Amino acid sequence: MGMTVPPGPRGRETLGFFGRSPERNTVTFLRDTARRYGPFSYFRILHKHIYLVDDADLVKEILITRQHSFIRDTGATLLRELLGDSLITREEPLHRERRRILQPAFHRDQIAHYAEIMSTETARFADELRDGETLDIREAMRRLTLAIAGIALFGTDCRESAAQVSAVLQRVSVKTRWVAPALVLFEPLFKAYRRWFPRAPSLLFYRERRELEKIIAPILEQRRGQGTKDILSLILNARNEEDAPLTDEEVANEIVTFMLAGHETTATALTWTLYLLAQHPEVAERLYLELDSVLDGRPARLDDLPVLPYTSAVFQEGLRLYPPALAFARRTIENVELAGYIVPKGASVFLSPLITQRNPRYFDDPEAFRPERWLNSQPAKFAYFPFGGGAKSCIGESFARLEGVLALTNLGRKRLLSCSNGGSIAIGVGMLLRPDRTILLQVSERTRASEEAPTL
Ligand code: HEM
Repeated sequence: MGMTVPPGPRGRETLGFFGRSPERNTVTFLRDTARRYGPFSYFRILHKHIYLVDDADLVKEILITRQHSFIRDTGATLLRELLGDSLITREEPLHRERRRILQPAFHRDQIAHYAEIMSTETARFADELRDGETLDIREAMRRLTLAIAGIALFGTDCRESAAQVSAVLQRVSVKTRWVAPALVLFEPLFKAYRRWFPRAPSLLFYRERRELEKIIAPILEQRRGQGTKDILSLILNARNEEDAPLTDEEVANEIVTFMLAGHETTATALTWTLYLLAQHPEVAERLYLELDSVLDGRPARLDDLPVLPYTSAVFQEGLRLYPPALAFARRTIENVELAGYIVPKGASVFLSPLITQRNPRYFDDPEAFRPERWLNSQPAKFAYFPFGGGAKSCIGESFARLEGVLALTNLGRKRLLSCSNGGSIAIGVGMLLRPDRTILLQVSERTRASEEAPTL
């Protein structure tokens, strides 16, 4: 008889899962496990059976071909305590219904509207940067994506509320950093609590939920029945299967979901991409060359994107090396055969864009930042999946790509140089791919080729 579980770390070795130092943390543990034990590995953390995947075909099986054998995992249990019932915590068939209702927020004409907001906000942001100024780039990108998400979600008149929501979500993010590893232990308790008391107060985020409700309630009251183009209005005017509008609570849950999923993610992607550009001046120069020849100094618009292939490739490559959603998990709802093993019902399957997107089987020189790799070829499907895949893939993917590329385009008016704050930046642990310390970049003016004074 063959092995019943795939190879992987055993016994004391598995304690690496709880590691907390920059050199040894959950992320490095997962990466080392995949590198050492191959495309499909297994380990146990107490009662939890974890199967780690590092293989494009298996990713496709889990996210697409056999997605109906899986549901969301621990992360969703945690999110449910904050968001209640929403798109990102639902399972089928309810998930599909909610997705259908929210999808119009990402239709083509809406996207064109968001592009205008993104372009205006990023151009303004770039213009306000002063020569010689030093930026905490993560903070700066968070401010920028918050401004954009605020307007896209609530419209211009409620930007303040977006900032307040974001401040509460910051606290949630710090809290989850500490709680998440322990959740593996306490998840069964949480789930039991929710099963018995579906509407009882949130265990972990009681205060945060109350504050969020207080911020959002007055906006809903004022907005019901109005027809503006922001996402909030679309959600307020949406109808469910019974042709009834969503309740205030449902609307509030979705709004917080969009804020949570939609601004720190893109901020993280931009932070790492700008960091990479600062470390690779030759790539930055090539980017500026494209921007100057296509735009010659004016702000970019939606219809410029097809003629900015290198800029798109830069963002694409940033998302390859530093995918903000570094790993996510699914749980089996029945025995599933994967890679010749029977994965039992109730097991966790971890997928990691961070690990697979740096696998040398799929990418030449995988640790190198080389945007041109995207210009002539595409990798194996699902060797690259920063936005997930299947029915629960990122609903904001087109929004995020557009925002990323328009931001790079407009920020490219200035040069962002790396400051010597010592060595390279490691990956810290959190819900998203956090830099392990502050990344400082220095702003420097840049002259476009066409602006240089003619020499007489
Ligand atoms: C670079 C930026 C982004 C990245 C890397 C990203 C990544 C992801 C990933 C990997 C998932 C799927 C997780 C899973 O399968 O368990 C997801 C789901 C989701 N994302 Fe994004 N996302 C980004 C930006 C956004 C934006 C801008 C929005 C909203 C405007 C958004 C809203 C959502 C929502 C609502 C879901 C849940 C979808 C569902 O379950 O049906 N995301 N995202």
